[in-house]
Amino acid sequence: MRAYDVIHKKRDGELLSEDELRFIVRGATDGTIADEQLAAFLMAVFFRGMDGERELPVWLDAMLRSGQVLDLSAIAGCKVDKHSTGGVGDKISLPLAPLVAVCGVKVPMVSGRGLGHTGGTLDKLESIPGFSVNLSIARFTELVDKLGLCLIGQTAEIAPADRKLYALRDATATVESIPLIASSILSKKLAEGIDALVLDVKVGKGAFMKSQDEARKLARTMVDLCHAVGRGCTALLTAMDEPLGQAVGNAVEVRESIEILQNRGPADVRELTLQLGIEMLLSAAPSRQSAGTATQSARSTANASSSEIAQARAQLERALADGSALERFAQLIEAQGGDRRVCDNTELLPKPQLIRSVRATQDGVLQSLDAEQIGLAAVELGAGRSRKEDKVDPAAGLMLYKRAGDVIRVGDVIAELYSSNEDWLDAGEARVKRAAQVGEEAIAQKPLVLERIA
Ligand code: URA
Repeated sequence: MRAYDVIHKKRDGELLSEDELRFIVRGATDGTIADEQLAAFLMAVFFRGMDGERELPVWLDAMLRSGQVLDLSAIAGCKVDKHSTGGVGDKISLPLAPLVAVCGVKVPMVSGRGLGHTGGTLDKLESIPGFSVNLSIARFTELVDKLGLCLIGQTAEIAPADRKLYALRDATATVESIPLIASSILSKKLAEGIDALVLDVKVGKGAFMKSQDEARKLARTMVDLCHAVGRGCTALLTAMDEPLGQAVGNAVEVRESIEILQNRGPADVRELTLQLGIEMLLSAAPSRQSAGTATQSARSTANASSSEIAQARAQLERALADGSALERFAQLIEAQGGDRRVCDNTELLPKPQLIRSVRATQDGVLQSLDAEQIGLAAVELGAGRSRKEDKVDPAAGLMLYKRAGDVIRVGDVIAELYSSNEDWLDAGEARVKRAAQVGEEAIAQKPLVLERIA
């Protein structure tokens, strides 16, 4: 088989065979297909797409099997993970994983780092003194079994074809292709050995997908694709015009996550944690595991009764109220080498050298607080990376004290910025001021969860 012929076929919009699709993934993994041919293939897919039933499931299967596929079958119970397409102030994985684990679902979570204006779970966790995200697969499996959860970074062995293809997509303007995005995300997540996946597909100014239509297409593709390869999946489309919660950064987001586990904290962070938690509990519920197949299980969550949803919510709320989810998070921190005392005393988290308040310069109503701009402000303050190799400052970031729709007066504090450098504070302050549009009109609150795809 020649890569040239496969590229030619895809370029002309013909359907590729299973052998041809597997040949391309194999060639990307072992280096036997040249970068220029892989890049041309990706561009052909960008324009021609992939057939959702006859091409994409094979392509995904080849991608996820290009490296190590974890076998968690020896661990009792349903293994469910959550993936967010990335947002600003999106710390949901931190409270969600222990909360769902304490309710009986196993959560093997392989997460990423922040890049661009969005933050990453690994950077947040590493702001906890001593916390390690680099555990062996054996230790990861042991903790998922013993504690019901573990949070680690991607290893070089998981989906190597995606690493190669993603780098080429990045360099050839072919990232924004729904089949390529869906297969890239799912190849890494499904290689974790999970039975079901819950997706949080962000929509809005601070999201990868700016329109609800685009987000729906991506969610639909991923949900159908998971079902096609025998895994359960549901997706929530959620708003990302404004940051989630008040904290944006690393240590500050850990603090806010701990507040959620202490049964307090911002209402939007709590609500999204609960809604995604309900999805995870429903996709793992024994009554839904008919014949033991996760596919049937997650498909049937589409028809979950309101009483099942209410029961799942009540179980999650109890675990927040009685402290058991917080205790599970403390156990996880300890097991991953961190200082569990942060759960009782968030003063032990890294502290910024410099603090500056950003104050309103006009009276009115805050019309919007652009999530992308706030995310970029956090990067400028030192909390994120512009390039992969940049180091993050765990103490940098910001707290937002106003939301869209709030009435503000001259001198009110809109945000507090944290950094280690005065110039970075200047840049962050200018950015936050640009992000905060003030006007006269009253603003209606928009819903947090826009749509559910099952
Ligand atoms: N995240 C991924 O992992 N892959 C994509 O293609 C886009 C976002």
